[in-house]
Amino acid sequence: MRECREGLDFRITSGTEPTITVETVMQQGEKGRQILVWENYNRTIGEEKSSTNTAEKPAEISMSLTPDKMDLPPRPELFDFHGVSMTHYFTDNWENIQNFQARPDDILIATYPKAGTTWVSYILDLLYFGETSPERQTSIPIYERVPFLDIAFPSMDTGKDLVDKLPTSPRLIKTHFPVQFVPKSFWEQNCRIIYVARNAKDNMVSFFHFDRMNKVEPEAGDWNSYFQRFLEGKMVFGSWYDHVNNWWKKKETYSNLHYMFFEDMIEDTGREIDKLCNFLGLSKSAEDKKLITGGVQFDNMKKNSMANYSTFSAMDFKVSPFMRKGKVGDWKNHFTVAQNEEFDEDYKRKMKDPTLQFRTEL
Ligand code: PPS
Repeated sequence: MRECREGLDFRITSGTEPTITVETVMQQGEKGRQILVWENYNRTIGEEKSSTNTAEKPAEISMSLTPDKMDLPPRPELFDFHGVSMTHYFTDNWENIQNFQARPDDILIATYPKAGTTWVSYILDLLYFGETSPERQTSIPIYERVPFLDIAFPSMDTGKDLVDKLPTSPRLIKTHFPVQFVPKSFWEQNCRIIYVARNAKDNMVSFFHFDRMNKVEPEAGDWNSYFQRFLEGKMVFGSWYDHVNNWWKKKETYSNLHYMFFEDMIEDTGREIDKLCNFLGLSKSAEDKKLITGGVQFDNMKKNSMANYSTFSAMDFKVSPFMRKGKVGDWKNHFTVAQNEEFDEDYKRKMKDPTLQFRTEL
C-alpha cells in the first residue's frame, strides 16, 4: 500500500460511488499508514487523493431498451441451492444445463462473478475469430458470442439455448458455476477450461457496484452489509473462498484446466495471452498478439459497445458502468481500516492452501 503524506486531503466523488457525494477527507494519523475519515461516512484506507474529481463519470449509454422503460421483475432473492447461495435465474434451467452435451473442442471460461470473465472472453474470441470473422466484433455483443450457460432469464433465450445455437467451432462458453455444478459432459469430453480468479477485496468491490447497477441481481444494500455478506458467502454463486479454492483443487485431478489471475493480466496482458495461446495450442504471430493486447486494454473495451454491456438493458449505467475501473487496489477506496483488519483475519482462517496466493496490490 502506498503511504501518503500528512495533512488534509480533499476529494470529490460522484454518484458512481456508494453513498458519497462531496466529502472532506481528514487524516487522523497512524504510524505506517494513512487513515482517512469521510465526513458522514466511514474510515477508508486510500491512496493519496488529488484535489480533482477522481471519480469515474458514467459511460455514455446507447441501450436498446432503457431499464426504467422495461418491465423488469422485482430483484431476485438469494436462497440455498445444494449448499450454494443462488437466485432462480441460475437454477430455473438446472436440469437442462446438467444434461448439456459438451463437445470435445468446447472451451469453458469459468469465473467467480467480476473476476475478468468478459476480458478473457473477448481475448479468446479475438484469438479464434478475430481474423476469420471480423464482422463479429462490430455486430454481436460479447455475451452472445460467448454465452452464459447458467442463465435463464424471462424473454431471453436461455444461456444453454444460445450455446446450442452457436455456429462457431470451437464454442466459447461462460460459466460462474462453482466447480461442483459444472455439467459432467465437460469433464467427460476433456474440454479445455480456463478459470480466472481475482483477489477477494477487489472482487468484492466490483461485485458490489455490479449488484447496484444490475437489476437482475439481488439488492446490493449498503456497503457495510455487503461486506459482511461477502465474508459469509451469501452472494450469487456462493462463497468466493469456496469458489477459488475448489477450482484450484480441481487442477490436481483435471489437467486441461488453465488457472489464471486478473492481477497478472493487469500486470502484463501480453504475457498472459502468450500463456493462453500455449494452453490452447494456438500459434499466433507477434504482430497479431500485439494487436489483440492493445485492443483488449480497459479503455478500448470500455469504448466498445460490443464488449462493454451497454446494449444489455437490465444494467443501469447511470448507477455504475459495467467497465467501471479495471484496477488492482480499488478496495482501498472502500474498505475501512476496521473492515480490512476483520477481512484479513477471516481470510487467514479460510485460505489455508499456501499454493494459492493472490495479490491485492501491484
Ligand atoms: S461478469 O459480470 O461477472 O461477467 O464481470 P467480469 O467480466 O467477470 O468482471 C468485470 C470486471 O472486470 C473489469 N474488466 C477489465 N479490467 C481491466 N482491463 C480490461 N480490459 C477489463 N475488462 C473488464 C471490469 O472493469 C470489472 O471490474 P471493475 O473493478 O468493476 O472495474
